[in-house]
Amino acid sequence: MAPRPRRALHGVARCPHGGPDHAELAALGHRPGDVLDFSVNSNPLGCHPAVRQAAAAAAVERYADSAATVLARALAEAHGCRPEQVLVTAGSLEALRLAAQAYLEPGEVGVVAEPTFGEYALAIQLAGGLVERLWLGAGGAAAGHADSGSPEGATPPLAGFGVSPKKEMGSGQQASGATADNAGALTDEVAALARERGAKLLYLCQPNNPTGTYLPQATVARLLDALPDTLVVLDEAYVAFVADAWPSEALLGRSNLLVVRSLTKDHALAGLRIGYALGAPDVLAPLRLAQPAWSVGAPAQAAALAALDHPEHVAAGRALALAERSFLQRELRALGFTVWPSAAHFFLVDVGDAGTLRAALLRRGVQVRDCTSFGLPALVRIAPRTRPENERLLAALRDVLASGDHRHVRGSGTSPCGTSAGDAKGSLEGASSPLATLFGAGWGNGDSHSQRRCVIG
Ligand SMILES: Cc1ncc(COP(=O)(O)O)c(C=O)c1O
Repeated sequence: MAPRPRRALHGVARCPHGGPDHAELAALGHRPGDVLDFSVNSNPLGCHPAVRQAAAAAAVERYADSAATVLARALAEAHGCRPEQVLVTAGSLEALRLAAQAYLEPGEVGVVAEPTFGEYALAIQLAGGLVERLWLGAGGAAAGHADSGSPEGATPPLAGFGVSPKKEMGSGQQASGATADNAGALTDEVAALARERGAKLLYLCQPNNPTGTYLPQATVARLLDALPDTLVVLDEAYVAFVADAWPSEALLGRSNLLVVRSLTKDHALAGLRIGYALGAPDVLAPLRLAQPAWSVGAPAQAAALAALDHPEHVAAGRALALAERSFLQRELRALGFTVWPSAAHFFLVDVGDAGTLRAALLRRGVQVRDCTSFGLPALVRIAPRTRPENERLLAALRDVLASGDHRHVRGSGTSPCGTSAGDAKGSLEGASSPLATLFGAGWGNGDSHSQRRCVIG
């Protein structure tokens, strides 16, 4: 009889992502470098030349320092912590996987707050754990906000993690995160679920991919207080793109916190695979044990060291991305699309049928993230690029609309609830839980062990 893989892997699907699908692009006659990619949320300025040079000059003929000692020291200095509180990883994804591998016994529960990055659930499943999904949204509170009316009229019924659509100013200002009120509700709901299910792990994406919601420090601190037996993995892969982010270093002494960071996004180093985790030495110790030797190669370590010398590159990328976010949102609204507020640079747009629009744009050499795999088939996620590139996106979009490749009529695009965008206010007022329709049957890849819907006020 042939060897059989672990039972925990049966029925588990790989996680869909943005970025180039090389086979798909080849079939369309595109080379990856020819496609303008708005589906990956990286620094729009690309990689700093000094970082590229450092990677190219790295010694590849011998093994790199497995402990990445020099880089860990530099990262510790950058974060004002000790080197023992840093674990350098092959992209932040390795840290996310190691957390599940190190902290979950088979059959134990990991909690995921949806809609969010699909790799959290996969990490839990690969470790043999059970995924408990908690749906976060605005529900009745959103109806209240819709009452007051956003400047754009229709208020999207999904406001993941309780972010208030009312905060959408329409003049370049953005929602900066969840409100104090709903932060309390969030803490209580998540903590109650995690406690009830004896969760060993909780993944929180901060700011959240794809909604762009950013939780206040008090909410995260309160969660940590409420869940002393749960490892809270705070994924800050995109935090560099949040204006006025609070310093998670302040919480690093906690015995149940793992902060995960990426250099992929801030420094546009997706091809190199470099990230890291921050935490108390005892929290990190089992991850160190589980990490394969030489996981992070010499070019990646050298590039990261060089990148740390250029914090101004990240600041400039953030400033550009946030300014261009406002530009794109304004233009998209003018085209009749409903646009979601975001504390990050990327944001969601209601296009009615994300799969069709993505395909139509890709034929024109432009890529956006179809959010169907997040359970949001009406939405695409867009990360701003430079102004000329953003103009090309808008031109491609206008061409798609004019050609009839994608039907979108102002005010009648379907919302994630399946209601018309123009109807959003009415439908919210009447609905006991918009999320009941938002996350109806067929959500995701059907691999979850358990789901709970939670409407945060
Ligand atoms: C929220 C989030 N965390 C982590 C990652 C992994 O990034 P990397 O492994 O390149 O650091 C991604 C990638 O898309 C992401 O969206």
